[in-house]
Amino acid sequence: MKLVGIEKKIGDFQLAIDSLEFAAGKIHGLVGHNGAGKSILLKIIMGLIRPDAGHIDYAGLAMDEITLMTQTPYLLHRSVYENVIYPLKIRGVKIDAHKEKEIDALLERAGMLSHKEQYALSLSSGERQKLSFLRAVIFEPRLIMMDETLSNLDPDSEKTIIEMIKEIQAARRATWIIVSHQLESKEGLCDFIHRLEGGRLL
Ligand SMILES: Nc1ncnc2c1ncn2[C@@H]1O[C@H](COP(=O)(O)OP(=O)(O)O)[C@@H](O)[C@H]1O
Ligand SMILES: [Mg+2]
Repeated sequence: MKLVGIEKKIGDFQLAIDSLEFAAGKIHGLVGHNGAGKSILLKIIMGLIRPDAGHIDYAGLAMDEITLMTQTPYLLHRSVYENVIYPLKIRGVKIDAHKEKEIDALLERAGMLSHKEQYALSLSSGERQKLSFLRAVIFEPRLIMMDETLSNLDPDSEKTIIEMIKEIQAARRATWIIVSHQLESKEGLCDFIHRLEGGRLL
C-alpha cells in the first residue's frame, strides 16, 4: 500500500506525508510523540477521515479486508463472545461447530476463554484491548492496524499478544501497522519502523 501527497489539517495540526509505502506482508511499526498524527494517519487509511489532498493506492486491498483497533475500543454492549463474532456476522460467515472450536481456541490462546460469556463493558482495560485484538484478527484481515493496543497490557498479556502476532504472521502473512510508544524495546517484532513527528515523516 502506498500513500502519496497525503495532507490533512485539523485545527492547528497539519499532517503532510509526501510518500509512505507499507510493504505487503510485513510488520510496520509507527512511532512518534503524542500528537504526532499517528491516530489521524491510521483513520485516514481506514477511510474514517477524508484527507484534504493526496491519494492512497491500496494495491488491491478491499476496505473490508482492513481492520483498525482504535485507541479506545468500541465494544458492543453484549458478551465477549458476541463481540468476537461480530465481524464474522456482518460478513455473513456461518458459525458452525468447526468455527466455534476455532473461536474458543483463539479465546483460550489469549487467556480470555473464562470471560467468554462476560458482559464486554465489565472487562478491565487490558482485557478490552485483548478482546479488540481477537475481534480484529478473527476474520483474517489482510491489513491489521493497532493503535496503542499494546499500551494498556500487563507484561504477560503483552507477551501473549506479540506471540500471537508472530503466529498469525507465520501462518498467513498479513500486513501490520502497529502504533506503540515502546516499539523500540519490542525487538524483533517489526520489519520496518516509521517515525512521525509533528505530522511529518522522519
Ligand atoms: N478532531 C480534532 N480536532 C482538533 N484537533 C485534533 C482532532 N483530532 C486530533 N487533533 C489533534 O491533532 C494532533 C494529532 O493527533 P493524533 O493523530 O491523535 O496524535 P497521536 O500521534 O498522538 O495519535 C493532536 O495535536 C490532536 O490534538
Ligand atoms: Mg494516537
